Parts: sequence; structure tokens; C-alpha cells
Amino acid sequence: MRLDKFLCETVNLSRKEARDSVKKGLASVNGIKVTDFGYQVNETCDLVVFKDKPVSYEKYVYFILNKPAGYVSATNDPVDKTVIDLFESEGRKDLFPVGRLDKDTVGLLIITNDGDLSHHLTSPRHHVNKTYVADIDHPLSDNDIKTLCEGVELKGDGVTKPAKVNVIAPTRIELTICEGMYHQVKRMLKAVGNEVTSLKRISIGPVSLDDNLKEGEYRRLTEEEIKLLKE
Ligand code: URA
Repeated sequence: MRLDKFLCETVNLSRKEARDSVKKGLASVNGIKVTDFGYQVNETCDLVVFKDKPVSYEKYVYFILNKPAGYVSATNDPVDKTVIDLFESEGRKDLFPVGRLDKDTVGLLIITNDGDLSHHLTSPRHHVNKTYVADIDHPLSDNDIKTLCEGVELKGDGVTKPAKVNVIAPTRIELTICEGMYHQVKRMLKAVGNEVTSLKRISIGPVSLDDNLKEGEYRRLTEEEIKLLKE
């Protein structure tokens, strides 16, 4: 990897800042000052020092984002702001969201550059549980709850797998599903004659949304969370 790219991805510099810094002699590789910003760095074994501090390269990065409404779950979009726009200061060009939340849905979204983890979490074969808090138009009857739990027919997608419903308040429920069909929660509620008026995802598998992450804020996943997600 080129030295300027390495510095962009590790110390949050723009490409121009990285080049200027290297030209000024602020970087060294394996103890030797390098002023050529195109110098090829082996990111797994070279020791890069920038402004007298060693810099290590992370191949994979993992974040938990509390997605705000109004952002689309994509890497770029001709019209809307994307969740990746919130990560501009990370200086990485390879981040993407794991799965999708609707533009108006808020809550837990994992952002990474690890395609294998993303596949593991979103593959229909793996049945990873996702829990949502949904505000709904009117209370569910016992029969509605039974139907949601047993599975409802979603046009074009078949019958949903067994789900869990936890009634928190007359018009607020927690719904846990293990699939990721398009607009699944909204369509499931519609199938029992109800309507979702707001939706928030609060967990994916073993990882839950942090209470102290405000909408639009994110943090690194801990080593323990990454390990649990990969299991
Ligand atoms: N189900 C929905 O309907 N919307 C989401 O954003 C996520 C799950």
C-alpha cells in the first residue's frame, strides 16, 4: 500500500495532508525517513512512524452506529445522505453498512469493511436474531401476537419464520426476527392490520445498542463484541 494511503487510513489525514506531511519528512518506515509519498509500505510488517509515534494499520474495523432517521443504508446515493457519510472523519474509503435499515428507521447498524462478517450476519442461512422496538398504530390482540409469532405470509417472500413479541406498552412492542426481508417489520405488522409509526433496532445477535450513543453517534465494537458476532 502507498505511504500516503496508509497515512490517510490510519491517522485520519486527507490525501493532500498525507502527501504534504510525507514531503515535509514527518514519516519514517523501518527507521528511515521517507519523503516519497508513493513509497510502498507493507502494512503487516513495516514499522511506520508518523510525527514520532508508531502507527499500526488495522485491516478490519468494526463500528456500532446509532443510525439517525433521514440517512439511507448505502455507501453512496445520488440524492440522500448515507450512513457512511457519518464516518467521513475515519478517513477510510472501504466502509459499508451490514444489512439495511429503512431511511426512517433508527438504531443499531454495524459498519465495517469486513465482508465475511457482513455475510455471516446477513446470510439467510444463519438466522441471526434482530430485535426492534416498534411503535404501532393500535394495540395488538392476543390473536395478532400469536399470528406474528407463528409466521405471517408476506407477498413475494413467503411465510416469516417464528418471531418473538414482547408487549412493552399498549402501542409499543419489541419484535425479534431472524430474517431480513425487505421492510419486514412494517410488512409483518401490516399483515395483522396494524401500522408501524416508528421503528428502532436495538440488537443484532449478541450486540445491543448502547444507551449512551445518541442518534448519529458511533463507537468501535469491543474485541468481545466482535468475537461474539463472529461466533
Ligand atoms: N423492518 C422494516 O420494516 N424496516 C427496517 O428498517 C428494518 C426492518
